[in-house]
Amino acid sequence: MTQGEEKIMNKAFCEKLSHLSIEGTAEEIVHRFIEHLKFDLGKDEFSATPYDCYVSFASAVKDILMDRWLITQPQEYALQRKRVYYLSLEYLIGRSLGNAILNLDIQKQSIKALTENGFDLSLLSELEWDAGLGNGGLGRLAACFLDSMATLKIPAYGYGIRYEYGIFFQHIINGEQVETPDNWLRYGSVWEIARPARLFPVYFGGIVKEEILEDGSKKMRWIPEETVMAMAYDYLVPGFQNNYVNTLRLWSAKSTREFNLAYFNEGDYMQAVADKNHSEMIAKVLYPNDNKMQGKELRFRQEYFFVSATLQDILRRFLKKESDLRKLPEKAAIQLNDTHPAIAVAELMRILVDERNLPWEIAWEITQQCMAFTNHTILPEALEKWQVLLFEKLLPRHLQIIYEINERFLSSIRITGLYDDDFISRVSLIEEEPVKSIRMANLAIVGSHSVNGVSELHTDILKHLIFKDFYALWKDKFNSKTNGITPRRWLMLCNPLLSELITQAIGSAWKTDLKELAKLNKYKNDSTFLEDLGEVKRQNKLEFCKYYEDLHKRKLNPESIFDFQAKRIHEYKRQHLNALGIIHLINQIRDGKTPYPQSFFFAGKAAPGYFIAKLIIRFICALSDYIEKDKELSRYLSVIFLPNYRVTLAERIMPPAEISRQISLAGTEASGTGNMKFALNGALTIGTLDGANIEIREAVGEENFFLFGMTAAEVKNLKESGYHPYEMMRQNEDIKRIFDFIESDILNPLNPGLFTPLTDLLLYQGDKYCLIADLPDFIRVNAEAVKVYQDKQQWNRMSLANIANMGKFSSDETIKGYAKDIWGV
Ligand code: IMP
Repeated sequence: MTQGEEKIMNKAFCEKLSHLSIEGTAEEIVHRFIEHLKFDLGKDEFSATPYDCYVSFASAVKDILMDRWLITQPQEYALQRKRVYYLSLEYLIGRSLGNAILNLDIQKQSIKALTENGFDLSLLSELEWDAGLGNGGLGRLAACFLDSMATLKIPAYGYGIRYEYGIFFQHIINGEQVETPDNWLRYGSVWEIARPARLFPVYFGGIVKEEILEDGSKKMRWIPEETVMAMAYDYLVPGFQNNYVNTLRLWSAKSTREFNLAYFNEGDYMQAVADKNHSEMIAKVLYPNDNKMQGKELRFRQEYFFVSATLQDILRRFLKKESDLRKLPEKAAIQLNDTHPAIAVAELMRILVDERNLPWEIAWEITQQCMAFTNHTILPEALEKWQVLLFEKLLPRHLQIIYEINERFLSSIRITGLYDDDFISRVSLIEEEPVKSIRMANLAIVGSHSVNGVSELHTDILKHLIFKDFYALWKDKFNSKTNGITPRRWLMLCNPLLSELITQAIGSAWKTDLKELAKLNKYKNDSTFLEDLGEVKRQNKLEFCKYYEDLHKRKLNPESIFDFQAKRIHEYKRQHLNALGIIHLINQIRDGKTPYPQSFFFAGKAAPGYFIAKLIIRFICALSDYIEKDKELSRYLSVIFLPNYRVTLAERIMPPAEISRQISLAGTEASGTGNMKFALNGALTIGTLDGANIEIREAVGEENFFLFGMTAAEVKNLKESGYHPYEMMRQNEDIKRIFDFIESDILNPLNPGLFTPLTDLLLYQGDKYCLIADLPDFIRVNAEAVKVYQDKQQWNRMSLANIANMGKFSSDETIKGYAKDIWGV
């Protein structure tokens, strides 16, 4: 029996336990709200703060979640269905209260319970801190997937790390990004449930010994040097109005010293405390890089830490009902969210072979059948490689196992005689130069039965470019699963006005079957409906203006076009291309041309060590200042950098957005999901043929999408035939004037040359992301969009076409694809 699970309760008590349940009436909610305030927090009329009230009310909602969870979980044990395990180093969850109320279908009761007692749900909801345990798309995708898996009643578990510090807070001070730590657990989290009994040791370092068994066979034994304990914290994940609740389990690191009193008694007390801090560092902080590998030992430890604890927990659960590990693939599908958990391949092999004494071939079969791998990026700097030296130091037995996997794999292809040495060295799990390293993507591909990209274009690039050798070996392994977003958070919760309009028109079925939105297409020539749609957008813009003006004490122009580029700041995403387009508008105004008023909003964080990304933020902020101070320009234009982009801010900006900028260089963005959120909320996209933009454009119709720029193939051709950005600039008067403007230092008179590193990259250092080549077409498409905007009816019709045809991009659809093609659930 597992620790802490001895049957200690008699029958009568169990009866009572199972009879206590919560229906979720307004009276129950009030009762529990008061109980939590009084008995958990010890607060009364003299001492309760608004935050205490949020905590107590949210705890009452959590009680209902817990009730449903305690019904779902034993049901799944009875059914013994195959479970899905989603392994991800990031979960960008945001707030949970509104989502829990919506999914539990207790909005009416909650509002009644609160208003009758003088509280306001939206004010209380605002007090919740975002759970920001991720950087961007990959982490938010994981959160949307959890919502969809619960909605589809798939028995699923998310596994990850309970970072004490999530993604940093971004402040903009004097036009520059300044980071402060996100200490999101400072006041605890209402939503988590500590599971002190769910504790596993995770080992590091030491040596591997070879032992000779009685039958003469050899066996490897890892004798580790260091142990860290992984302790579980659970977060409950409700499906949409179906009483089904799954688990997100995040690991926290604890020192073993706490569990070993003798050490404290005999050893050096101060050293023991220092060791404790060292162990607990593992779960301290999320690495703030997006699409970039930072080869730090602590990150390597994080990856193995959460994989090891997770596999122990998966096997524990499996072995409760089964004894034959050969059946594991019938009961567990393990999805690797990028290569961050790829070490799971070697770890499962180690457990099966070293600890469970299974023959290698059988262990390999089990491992491959359980594992599936999602690749998220094609940028070379993001591909994970870990030095062999680091493996030797921290995971010596895993290194041996990886060598053996590699040897068996390479000899199996050598023997066919079909592949030359170059091919073999390209697919090898080991990279020899410049430093001997393990290629984690290769390990994940070889050890999985499925490899998927996250949009059709991205999967094509995997098949024909970065993993083309593996594709030549195993065509059937590769498949495409275009990312998706949950319509609950990204339409119902964030945009109640639009949700209501849609429901009035076509009923409620779209909430769980987003393809139902296609029924809206019949309104495309209904001028009343189009006006209503326009009115919803107008109300959402006014609401956003109020929110922004209260917060930032700066006025917005609600009559202007609301144009957004919100995503991580990265050269390949080309926020600076957007800025160059704005400078072109400035030049036009100076020439006496008066444009339609436009408000350009930017939002996004730059990795703290990414110099150029931070300079791009400075560039945008300088532009913002320059325009604001100029009477003539500010009549038509404003540029606004919204600080600290996060899930909660994203929920604010989707409803008022009219233009969505998805302008990465073709062939660089794997999918994008912000593009989907904007379109679902009725914004029109100005975008390139990149990532999921291509599929969005196909779905909504090319006449409802503002396309510009080169295709991925054209980019390749241009680079192969010789790209000369400086020459291009000189030959185009508009572009020349844009660069003259920047080089005049008019944006930065007190800091001459500030933006030279940026212009140098574009003009003299190859312009890796081809801004200059795409700029003329970008200027053209911007003008086209503004022209179309002035025909309100036409614009609303295009907006409707976007909303109506986004059904394919529900994460419910994506998950159905994973369930059918990859997991077999
Ligand atoms: P875990 O799967 O062991 O992590 O337990 C999660 C939840 O599943 C428990 O809190 C129980 O509600 C339920 N559960 C665990 N073991 C059993 C079992 O053997 N039979 C029925 N339900 C179980």
